[in-house]
Amino acid sequence: MAKRTVKDLDVAGKRVIVRCDFNVPRKDGKITNDNRIIQALPTIKYLIENNAKIILMSHLGKVKTEEDKAKNDLRCVADRLSELVDTKVTFVPVTRGAELEEAVAALNDGEIVVMQNTRYEKGESKNDEELAKYWASLGDLFVEDAFGSVHRAHASTAGIPSILPNALGFLVEKEVKMLGAAVDTPERPFVAIIGGAKVSDKIAVVDNLLKKADKVLIGGGMAYTFLKAMGYNVGKSLVEEDKLELAKEYLAKAEGKLVLPVDHVCADAFAEDAKTVVADNENIPADYMGLDIGPKSVALYKEALAGAKTVVWNGPMGVFEMKPFANGTLEVCTAISELPGATTVIGGGDSAAAAIQLGFAEKFSHISTGGGASLEYMEGKELPGIAVIAEK
Ligand code: 3PG
Repeated sequence: MAKRTVKDLDVAGKRVIVRCDFNVPRKDGKITNDNRIIQALPTIKYLIENNAKIILMSHLGKVKTEEDKAKNDLRCVADRLSELVDTKVTFVPVTRGAELEEAVAALNDGEIVVMQNTRYEKGESKNDEELAKYWASLGDLFVEDAFGSVHRAHASTAGIPSILPNALGFLVEKEVKMLGAAVDTPERPFVAIIGGAKVSDKIAVVDNLLKKADKVLIGGGMAYTFLKAMGYNVGKSLVEEDKLELAKEYLAKAEGKLVLPVDHVCADAFAEDAKTVVADNENIPADYMGLDIGPKSVALYKEALAGAKTVVWNGPMGVFEMKPFANGTLEVCTAISELPGATTVIGGGDSAAAAIQLGFAEKFSHISTGGGASLEYMEGKELPGIAVIAEK
């Protein structure tokens, strides 16, 4: 059964709480990438056009201390949003009390209130019942559109929808459709590419994708734990010693589906101006570390990708933020984007940032807005913020 979506709700004249994921990157208080705000617009605009009274909630950053509050004030998001929509946007700098309640009561149809960062409340991440009840009392309906946060069972993602009639927003609907089509019902051949620094962060994804994909290509720092487990000397490359046995286990059970890099751009320091050398698995110098896949690996990965009809990519191939180690990620990104007729999905986080930074935003079937959420989706886990939404 499909989940209810915002189109299944009668929103006219109703107070509709929308949980968005406005957790955007910022520098010196300024938003550096507004993609998550842009991706929330279809639901927000639909609600404006359909005369809802809109209450937007989101977290921003991690809030542990009073000092963190000032650093993670959601006002910058409300300011950006007001430039993107053609209606009144009121920012309320608190998360409870008269000011918030009055702003909600004053909403006309089609107008927006943006509440302060949900994490200003300690009870948010504990899914505190009293907090969820209070927030729910501000609305008549709830729309889950925070895909990046649906893996969190927090008061605003799971507590409120367990109280109010609810539905998915267009962003979550699209994310589930695209990730689901790629991971659960892929057209074959299905190739997954998993990179990133640590085996421990990605092993559950590798595990699930080994069951579903025809090939799983590994890149990034996590490759060195696998290579060491295979008996190679990997010099000073990042290795999780306590994951070597696990890596061996996966290599044995992968039945040849797991593809590892065969050469590397190695550096004598973790620095943009480090001395570099390209080395095969057999010759990584003892005092160097692998920071990107090398040209033979790029060729091998392009060959593995040729003819793929579904590709899921999560995690960069190297330290793409530093120019000397960006080539592997750039080449793999280019190869995926040029596959004819393939469904190509980037599962959020660093690889989404890399693809967007490298100018590939429009060249994939889907770039997920989720980091941890898309990872957990690809691990096959239930996402509490989606599980709580009613079926049609
Ligand atoms: C993210 O950026 O992945 C989401 O907004 C979730 O943020 P969190 O990891 O702080 O819960």
